[in-house]
Amino acid sequence: MSARRHPAASAASPTYRVETWGCQMNVLDGERMSGSLESRGYRRATGEEDADVVLLNTCAIREKAEHKVYSALGVLGRRKQERPDLVIGVSGCVAQVESKEILERAPWVDFVLGTGNVEQAGELVDRVRSERKTFTALELPVESPVYQFHQIARGSPFQAYVTIIEGCDQFCTFCIVPFTRGRERSRASAEILAELASLTSRGFTEVTLLGQTVDAYRDPGEGFGLGELLRRAAARTAGLRRLRFITSHPRFMDDDILDALSRGQPIAPYLHMPAQSGSDRVLYRMKRRYDAAQYLDTVARARRAVPDLALSSDFIVGFPGETEGDFQATLDLMANVGFATLFAFKYSPRPGTAAARWGREQAIPDDVASERLARLLTLQEDVQRRAHGDLVGREFEVLVERADGRSQSRGRTPCNRIVHVEGEHLQPGSYARVTITRGLPNSLIGRRAA
Ligand code: 5AD
Ligand code: SF4
Repeated sequence: MSARRHPAASAASPTYRVETWGCQMNVLDGERMSGSLESRGYRRATGEEDADVVLLNTCAIREKAEHKVYSALGVLGRRKQERPDLVIGVSGCVAQVESKEILERAPWVDFVLGTGNVEQAGELVDRVRSERKTFTALELPVESPVYQFHQIARGSPFQAYVTIIEGCDQFCTFCIVPFTRGRERSRASAEILAELASLTSRGFTEVTLLGQTVDAYRDPGEGFGLGELLRRAAARTAGLRRLRFITSHPRFMDDDILDALSRGQPIAPYLHMPAQSGSDRVLYRMKRRYDAAQYLDTVARARRAVPDLALSSDFIVGFPGETEGDFQATLDLMANVGFATLFAFKYSPRPGTAAARWGREQAIPDDVASERLARLLTLQEDVQRRAHGDLVGREFEVLVERADGRSQSRGRTPCNRIVHVEGEHLQPGSYARVTITRGLPNSLIGRRAA
């Protein structure tokens, strides 16, 4: 891709590698930084090549993710002793909130790039290489973001992420995101629609709209919300076969969004709407601003709009002060909803957040949190095994994502379930009608429909 866009780039061009951890927003930021570097003639290093520029695109959501950054920086520091011209950068959420600590602990880092400055990557690397100084770029914008979307170096030729809203104003008491990504700001719908049209004209067929609270989207000019944006995107983007959006906050899931969802193709019947807990007491202390009954009501409304809807959620176990009764309420909510998939995490205190300031006496011992996490996952496995069994005999349109062994392909249904298609080596990016023959706990097995 880079060679086509930059015929001048040759084997002599400096090479780069971006290592991305974390969420889809970070993946897209990695693609934007790659595009920024490629627009200045840098070339992505191949597997075996020792890159001239290494950029660690970091995640701060839990402590473990952060530890990985410092151990990777240790390895890079040793490499730099052998080749002092190596340029090392740190971007992403850890960079945004810990630039000082990074430069203290790893003084061999050449630049620190915040989450609001990813398109400066190419320029900063050029400056590091010519001036041999350390740079930081950490301002967080407050205005509607404008993307250089034509230069994004996409990781897939048929699936793309498109940001519609950046930042977060919710300040859930456990979450570092409002500090790492700043205040909420929505992108102009005209720009979003132009990006979608540009993507489908280049052969992309699946787009996932991104935002930390994607359903809080408001067009900065006309003031309409996600529902209208989805309807416009679906109506005006020729060639778009799947339109998704993540992540929804239960508070903002209004009837207009559900109306858009109910219209179906290309809008996929999938909703990622984290509950975090099923206990009203815990939800209040998390500052989620809904209770379990409201969450269940939103689920019921969504299912009335889209009977086949696949719901997914995030849960945190071991939140400070979580009792066995609170945890039981989470299991009850899970059993009640029957999520298609979910992501569950042990609570991890994050610097700057409200919950991290609460007294140690509220902390849940790690073995208790681990045991709760295991119980939650066991329950979910049962739910999924049963749901997947019920899908046997059903037919879905599968978007093939990759080859999976010699005689298998792996893809996804519109409801985002993974399907292994047996007996066929289908082209990634193609769509196939597939009949489900077997359900496993985490995926489905199928054969191409006759
Ligand atoms: N500890 C554990 N999990 C967290 N998440 C966010 N902050 C924390 C934390 N401090 C989880 C939430 C969120 C998902 C992306 O990560 O469930 O929805
Ligand atoms: Fe974090 Fe809450 Fe914002 Fe989601 S809504 S990014 S959990 S603060």
